[in-house]
Amino acid sequence: MKVGILGSGIVGRVLATAFISEGHEVMLGTRNISKTEVVKWQKANEPGRTGSFADTAKFGELLVLATAGSASEEVIRIAGVEHFANKVVIDATNPITAAPPTNGVLKFFTTLDDSLMERLQRLAPRAKFVKAFNSVGNDFMYKPSFRDGKPTMFICGNDDGAKKAVADILTAFGWETEDMGKAEGARAIEPLCILWCIPGFIRNQWSHAFKLLKM
Ligand SMILES: NC(=O)c1ccc[n+]([C@@H]2O[C@H](COP(=O)([O-])OP(=O)(O)OC[C@H]3O[C@@H](n4cnc5c(N)ncnc54)[C@H](OP(=O)(O)O)[C@@H]3O)[C@@H](O)[C@H]2O)c1
Repeated sequence: MKVGILGSGIVGRVLATAFISEGHEVMLGTRNISKTEVVKWQKANEPGRTGSFADTAKFGELLVLATAGSASEEVIRIAGVEHFANKVVIDATNPITAAPPTNGVLKFFTTLDDSLMERLQRLAPRAKFVKAFNSVGNDFMYKPSFRDGKPTMFICGNDDGAKKAVADILTAFGWETEDMGKAEGARAIEPLCILWCIPGFIRNQWSHAFKLLKM
């Protein structure tokens, strides 16, 4: 499959490399393909390509949004809303503000009644957004190895077929998946990022992931 990754930060680069490892054709999207880390990623990840946000959105049959949360709506506009239509879009973003955390608790620019993914879904109504990968550090996104077993990725989105496609990708990436319903589920999944980061900020503990235990 052709996978377009919008975002050249560490998350975009890690997921781009992971999709290449799984045999997909990948383009990494950025405003600046000459950026040192983008050039370095491309050299280390042949035949992975790099391109503008618009080229990447056009290229991908499946898209991954891995931009700064505050820039994500702008990136979709720059990339061309029409290029998201009818595509599965994995949304790894978090609505984190620039303000510093309070006692390790990050600040969001959204409320508990309206998530970032719902905003993105309204901006690109024909896209099939699925929230995933937002509530774990990039070190553990691909084939994580925890002594207590496979971690759980909480996902949500309005399209069942898209969620099935993302669950299959998560299985290949070494995760179990828990479906948290429609796009509104992102109101609960996005803040898991805040929870995940607290042990990191208050005691430099960054090596963990969530797991849903069941009877
Ligand atoms: N870091 C993690 O481990 C982690 C884990 C889970 C989820 N997340 C979430 O994943 C997303 C990506 O995180 P990250 O740490 O990889 O990188 P990041 O620094 O949050 O975002 C970098 C990307 O955002 C783009 N960007 C930033 N400001 C922009 C603007 N004003 N206009 C257009 N594009 C802009 C950059 O564009 P250029 O390519 O042009 O520079 C780059 O592609 C975030 O929403 C974050 O909350 C991060």
